[in-house]
Amino acid sequence: MLAGIKGVVRFDEPMSRYTSFRIGGPADAYVEPSDLESLQKVMTTASAAKIPVFVMGGTNVLVRDGGIQGIVLRLVNLDRIQEPEDGLFYAEGGVLMPRLLKFAMQRGLTGLEFAAGIPGTLAGSIVMNAGTRSGEMKDVVRTIRLVTMTGEILDLPAGQAGYSYRGSRLPRGIVVGAWLGLRAGTRAEIESHVKESLHRRKATQPIEMPNAGCVFKNPEGDSAGRLVEAAGLKGAQVGDAEVSTKHANFIVNRGQATAQDILALIRLVGKTVAEKFGVTLELEVQIVGRN
Ligand code: EPU
Repeated sequence: MLAGIKGVVRFDEPMSRYTSFRIGGPADAYVEPSDLESLQKVMTTASAAKIPVFVMGGTNVLVRDGGIQGIVLRLVNLDRIQEPEDGLFYAEGGVLMPRLLKFAMQRGLTGLEFAAGIPGTLAGSIVMNAGTRSGEMKDVVRTIRLVTMTGEILDLPAGQAGYSYRGSRLPRGIVVGAWLGLRAGTRAEIESHVKESLHRRKATQPIEMPNAGCVFKNPEGDSAGRLVEAAGLKGAQVGDAEVSTKHANFIVNRGQATAQDILALIRLVGKTVAEKFGVTLELEVQIVGRN
């Protein structure tokens, strides 16, 4: 079925290779389309055969140990960025966020500094409305380009993306790129802001160990990290999964953690915080795949 698709095609491909947690069982089929047309072809073929498609960004996701049914796509070859005109430019979904930020910084464009330290792809950031305390994707995204389940291209104004805190309500399909709007700024100021954020992140987050970013969304007016720490859970372990001793809203893989270990630890944290503080923590990390 995938014959004729340009790009990398593999079967039973371990997802642990592509996740920042270094965890995850195999995808039935794995495709890195070499261009947009090949991606459209995968979508039409998959929807005709009713085969599920999942786009693997890899950084905000926990893939279960049984792997993923259907086709997993990675957009590594869709990674072009167009030169800006008056601060407006198009970037493809597979562009990595650190590269996008560097691109903006080099051109003295301001507005994306909030993203300093956000790993992963532009597409993933757009779907999740990735952000920090100083901003979020919805502030800079103008128009989102999707490939629909039937392979058509759809350009959606960002106002119709249904953005909320760490979420969106996009039509079904795959984000393949976006027009971003930034403003002219001072390069030195942008750089110092970014440097400071990266420094703070390094000091407060366990970025040196495999992780998937913040596990829980912050409850309104509070911080999930503060609650988990106050519940006495820093350093709690299940197998090789550990609540980070540096930032309690991170779970790290100390080496051989399975998805099952991580899930058990997530349940333990959720239950303990609910019992102690009456707060139901909502997951930020996406959990996918078979048990
Ligand atoms: N805190 C603790 N113990 C901890 C961690 C935090 O008491 O173990 C307290 C801190 O002292 C601080 C407060 O909680 O008073 C907030 O902590 P922090 O500044 O680290 O920010 P956060 O709310 O935990 C948010 C985002 C991060 C983002 C940072 C920096 C969410 C869920 N988290 O974290 O995003 O990097 O701000 O802007 O919105 C992510 O989305 O994956 C992520 C890591």
